[in-house]
This record gives sequence, C-alpha cells and structure tokens, in this order.
Amino acid sequence: MTPPSIVAFAGSTRAGSYNKQLVQVAADAAREAGAAVTVVDLRDLALPLFDQDLEAASGLPEGAKKLKAILRAHDGMLIASPEYNSSVTGALKNAIDWASRSETDDEPALVAFTGKIAALCSASPGALGGLRSLAQLRSILGNIGVIVLPDQVTISSAHEAFDPSGQIKDERKSRQVARLAPG
Ligand SMILES: Cc1cc2nc3c(=O)[nH]c(=O)nc-3n(C[C@H](O)[C@H](O)[C@H](O)COP(=O)(O)O)c2cc1C
Repeated sequence: MTPPSIVAFAGSTRAGSYNKQLVQVAADAAREAGAAVTVVDLRDLALPLFDQDLEAASGLPEGAKKLKAILRAHDGMLIASPEYNSSVTGALKNAIDWASRSETDDEPALVAFTGKIAALCSASPGALGGLRSLAQLRSILGNIGVIVLPDQVTISSAHEAFDPSGQIKDERKSRQVARLAPG
C-alpha cells in the first residue's frame, strides 16, 4: 500500500510558536510511521489578508497558489492550531480562505480540501491547550469537505511542555501525538 502523504502546518506565524514545535513533533512521528510529510510555515507564504477585490483584480497571490498546490498534492493535512480568543487564528483562517478559492472558472470548488483527511492538535500556555480552537477548526474543515479524524491532541501549559530538543516532556501526550497522523 502506498504510504499516505501529509502536509503539516501550524496556524501561527510566530518564530517561537509552540504549535510549530508541536506540528514538527507530529510530523516527525508520521514520517517514522512511513508517511511522506511536507512541513509548511505559513509565514513563508506571506499571504495578504483575503480581499475579494484583490482576488478579482489579480487572482490568487503566489503564496495562495503554492498552498493550494501543496494541499492538492497530498492525501491529508496535519494542523496544529493555536487558540486566539477562543477560536482559530486569523492567519489560519486566512490561509484556509485563500486555499478554498478556485483559480479558473472550470476548476471544481474546494478542490484543495474535498475528500482530504485532517488530523488536529493544538498547544496553548492556558489550561485548555487550545481545545476551543479545535472545535471551531473541526467545524470549518468539515464544512469544506475535509474528513476530520476524531482523535485530537491538546497540549496545555505549552510554555513548559517541550524539552530543549523540542520533544514533548509528558510521555502520555507524546504517545498521543505520535499516533495522531496516519502513517
Ligand atoms: C490575540 C490573542 C488571543 C489569545 N487568546 C487565547 C485564548 O482564547 N485561549 C488561549 O488558550 N490562549 C490564547 N492566547 C494565547 C496563545 O495561546 C499564545 O500566544 C500561544 O503561544 C499562541 O500560539 P503559538 O505559540 O503557536 O504562536 C491568545 C493570544 C493572542 C495573541
């Protein structure tokens, strides 16, 4: 059987992002399990704020085209979602919004998302570990045709959760993250 291909990214652009650390741990585990994993940093895509006038005038920006192409080329996605004000970050929603758009009139809607599999996790310095962002992310992705896996992992007290090498200190959480993405 061909191993699954997964695109992994965090909903944070922050250099020291806990969610970038988390997605890296999950991506490494998925690779070890046999998956082909591409890690994307949303910062590198330099996506402008979605603006339908901008889209009408000049189409999708390069970063959006790139994200769409990467999503289309993979079977599924692994997302680590920070929680901002009980929801997903603007950066993550903005990336989803851009990637949800068609580039030509005959391109089917939501081609980057329909039928893809997603595994979700989150990290936050707070006690809930970003749980509320995952509830919303699950809903957003489900509504655009993504099959979101039922298991998810939240990392609370994220500022204390990783060791200096970037691994998750708590063994139980570490095992849960390792099992998150299909290999
Ligand atoms: C605008 C804003 C709103 C936030 N709201 C929440 C929140 O609702 N719940 C929470 O657990 N943390 C919240 N935080 C704290 C973030 O979880 C924290 O900044 C975290 O480090 C962001 O993820 P990152 O490390 O991956 O960038 C908020 C942070 C910001 C900047």
